Amino acid sequence: MLAIKTIFKYLLGTFLLIQLIQVDYENPPVNKHLEIQAPKEVMDILKRSCYDCHSNEVVLPWYANIAPLSWGMSRHVDLGRKWVNFSIWQTYTDEQKDKKLEELYKSVYRVMPLQGYVALHPKAALTKEDRKLLRDWTGKAPF
Ligand code: HEC
Repeated sequence: MLAIKTIFKYLLGTFLLIQLIQVDYENPPVNKHLEIQAPKEVMDILKRSCYDCHSNEVVLPWYANIAPLSWGMSRHVDLGRKWVNFSIWQTYTDEQKDKKLEELYKSVYRVMPLQGYVALHPKAALTKEDRKLLRDWTGKAPF
C-alpha cells in the first residue's frame, strides 16, 4: 500500500510540476482582407471544422492550458497554421494557393480534421456532403 501511495504522490507531483511549462497560444491579429474568400456554404464548413487549427481565430476549450495536453494542442495549431492558415490566405502566391487547394482536396478524403479533435468536437465532423462540397469548390480532380 505504501508503494502505491508513494507512486501516486510522485505522479501528482510531476503533474503539478509540468503545469509550470505553459504554452503560448496567442492568436495573431486578424485582418479580414487577408482571409480566404469562398461561398458561404464553404466558409461555414471551414470555420466549423478547420479554423481551430488553420486560422488566427482559434477558439480554445477550458482544458487547453492543462499540460501535457496543452503541448500537443499548441503543436497542432502551430503545425496546422504552417500548412495552411485561412486567415492569411491572400498573402499566398497563386502557386502556393494552388498547391494548398490540391492538398485540401486530398486532406478532406480522410485525414482532416484530425480524429482526436473530432472526438472532442463532434460538430466539426465532415459529412459526406461537406466533403464533396469542399472538394468541388477546390476545382481539383481525383489523381
Ligand atoms: C485539431 C487540429 C486540426 C484541425 C481541426 C484541422 N487540421 Fe488540417 N492539419 C492539422 C495539422 C497538425 C496538420 C499537419 C499535419 C502533419 O504535419 O502531418 C494539418 C495539415 C493539413 C493540410 C496539409 C496537407 C495534409 O494533408 O497533411 C491540409 C490541406 C489541411 N490540414 C486541411 C484541413 C482542413 C480542410 C480542415 C477542416 C476540414 C482541417 N485541416 C482541420 C491540424 C488540424
